[in-house]
Amino acid sequence: MNQQLISEVTNEYQLRYKGGHVLISSPGRINIIGEHTDYNDGFALPAAIDMGIVAALGKSEDALCSAYAINMNEVYKFSTETIKPISGGSWRNYIIGVVAELQHIGISVPPFNLVFAGDIPNGAGLSSSAALENSIVFGLNELFNLQLPKSEMILISQRAEHNYAGVRCGIMDQYASMFGQESHALLLDCRIHEARPIKIDFQDYQLVLINTNVSHNLVEAEYNDRREVCEKVTSILKVNALRDANERQLQSIKSEITEADYQKALYIIQENERVLKAVKMIEQNDLLALGAILFDAHNGASNQFKISCPELDFLVDQARIHKDAIGARMMGGGFGGCTINIVKKDAVDNYLEDVSQAYFNKFNKRCSPYVVSLSKGTCVSQN
Ligand code: GLA
Repeated sequence: MNQQLISEVTNEYQLRYKGGHVLISSPGRINIIGEHTDYNDGFALPAAIDMGIVAALGKSEDALCSAYAINMNEVYKFSTETIKPISGGSWRNYIIGVVAELQHIGISVPPFNLVFAGDIPNGAGLSSSAALENSIVFGLNELFNLQLPKSEMILISQRAEHNYAGVRCGIMDQYASMFGQESHALLLDCRIHEARPIKIDFQDYQLVLINTNVSHNLVEAEYNDRREVCEKVTSILKVNALRDANERQLQSIKSEITEADYQKALYIIQENERVLKAVKMIEQNDLLALGAILFDAHNGASNQFKISCPELDFLVDQARIHKDAIGARMMGGGFGGCTINIVKKDAVDNYLEDVSQAYFNKFNKRCSPYVVSLSKGTCVSQN
């Protein structure tokens, strides 16, 4: 994690609150493949990255908690006794959401002070919210010796997202941020919340993210809508989750659902298969085949599950026609954020120049590239 961020947060904590504190690093995540499969009990292949949140938490002598968000230069004071979701509360909801969900399982949280900062670009789909939630639950666990296992902490983070941010997300983001491993992606089975680390040898290629710098303002509603469609089809299929259905079963109820819902459910079934196939290709060191699967996944996300946008489609189309890219797709919840691309290592600069220029010509706005490395999950950090 960014050393400068660590020093900045430590210094700011000393300046504002003084005294002992725990220091936590909590990463964002990428996802190689497996989008919207997590809340269908399916598979995904995320990884924690070397961008994230650093948080310092210490006990407070006051009756109130005080939280300072360095990036926003905003302070929020609150009592742990009167917590409820704040409409338009942005970062505040993730913090009080975690406290409320701890209380909900019978853990009382004494007053605490908090300073945090991050280097995950906003709205990029790199899960800054999961990184923040995890940093808070992990930090409170350390500070007050709550003895929670990580497997429980991610559920608290997820419920904070559901109940305080209003997004009925799956477990992928919180899991990847908490359990990430250096140089590995995680083949995550979202039904049992267990993962197999997958070492990826990118050989002569490099992972590159390109941020469209657009974020749809109805993204929460769109996300929840996709989840509802999946649940509706699941109940008509009489299975526990779309994970348990195959294409033949789906075909047999086709007349009972709309074509749009059929395509969405089909996408989920096929995306689960793509994740497992992608892992096979990685294990066989066949990056060309992996790249082709990413392109397919984008087609599904865009045409069937309908979570793309013109900017994402454009960036993926650029990858399709450029000689130096072998695969790309939109990444995360959709409707904006980043594409993930596999690009020839020695041509990354050229590639980014070409694509950025084309993007600017088309949309008259800039996209932003990031090169990330796969990193370890939420942990205590040293000053
Ligand atoms: C968001 C959610 C995740 C997951 C992805 C899509 O990041 O938080 O749970 O559903 O979208 O794969």
